[in-house]
Amino acid sequence: MASSHAAAAPFLLVLLLQLCSSGLALPSKFIDQTCPPERLPAVALLSNGGPFLCNPPAPRVPVAVFPHDVDPVQFALNLEYTEAEFFLHGAYGAGLDEAAPGLARGGPPPVGARKANLDEETRRVVSEFALQEVGHLRVIQQTVGGFPRPLLNLSADNFARVMDNAFGYRLNPPFDPYTNSLNFLLACYVIPYLGINGYVGTNPIIDGYKTKELVAGLLGVEAGQDAAFRTLLFRRRGEAVPPYNVTVAEFTDRVSALRNRLGRCGVKDEGLTVPRELGAEGAICTNVLSADRDSLSYSRTPAELLRILYLTGDEHVPGGFYPDGANGKIARSFLGKPRGANESPKN
Ligand SMILES: *[C@@H]1O[C@H](CO)[C@@H](O)[C@H](O)[C@H]1NC(C)=O
Ligand SMILES: *[C@@H]1O[C@H](CO)[C@@H](O)[C@H](O)[C@H]1NC(C)=O
Repeated sequence: MASSHAAAAPFLLVLLLQLCSSGLALPSKFIDQTCPPERLPAVALLSNGGPFLCNPPAPRVPVAVFPHDVDPVQFALNLEYTEAEFFLHGAYGAGLDEAAPGLARGGPPPVGARKANLDEETRRVVSEFALQEVGHLRVIQQTVGGFPRPLLNLSADNFARVMDNAFGYRLNPPFDPYTNSLNFLLACYVIPYLGINGYVGTNPIIDGYKTKELVAGLLGVEAGQDAAFRTLLFRRRGEAVPPYNVTVAEFTDRVSALRNRLGRCGVKDEGLTVPRELGAEGAICTNVLSADRDSLSYSRTPAELLRILYLTGDEHVPGGFYPDGANGKIARSFLGKPRGANESPKN
């Protein structure tokens, strides 16, 4: 059948890239020198537990990647680039161009990203998530090909604009995500959550067993990252965010409301506390995780995500985090411009 022929090319590319990539060679500044040398019991099995008895079942549809899987999965690179750069710069003061330059595929460096003034716990969490994003970029590109990193606006001014839009007035002084841990966590509230929405939306429209496995794995970790950020913020929900006299909970509520307004598709986003009717089973106002009536993650289309990330409410009008627009076939199709031409493997 024609589609399985067409799908063989990406799969061969996966094999080729896996053969070529000689392990995970990060520069030393990204390697944690504080890890204890001894092996912990949980991983000791790696050296003496074999033979393993863990063969996964054979896929029912033996096609790794369908041609129609490629664009929706590639679209996610836009969000993964944004997270990778924001977390890497925030934690290490250096981005993808130092950590794994090949993964940027020649795209321009981000604007305005810098090292954040983080306490030890926050720095460790953000460092881990930053490195996870490097893995996500690599595996997406290996599985479905990729496109160059879009121009990203990660300047304090852009985050200040997000917060000003969320509140409907100018915060004074302007919000700066890089100034302390609490502000950085509030800025982190803005992005990974959209990754979850995107992956939930991608799942029903892809069919290859490799792409489904990939999206499930990405969704799991994005959801975990968002949950960790939200948990750290929930502990501080009643604190005022200095110097604004606005609580952490209200910040999250305002950002969620902004995303709902810009997404133009109803309520798919909730802050850390909600009216009881919107909480789990309509019975609780604690809302560490944002979810629908059945406590399932909300789903968003690329168009909805772009309306939010462009801060324009219009997928045809770039701005916000992507001054020149996001990349890949789906995002560019809304802009009618050939920039960031798609580099997916030829089918
Ligand atoms: C980044 O965003 C800020 C705030 O909107 C804006 O002033 C600045 O011009 C933007 N930078 C780019 C390169 O678009
Ligand atoms: C902070 O906000 C609370 C509740 O809105 C208000 O009662 C209080 O007067 C405000 N404090 C300052 C210093 O603005």
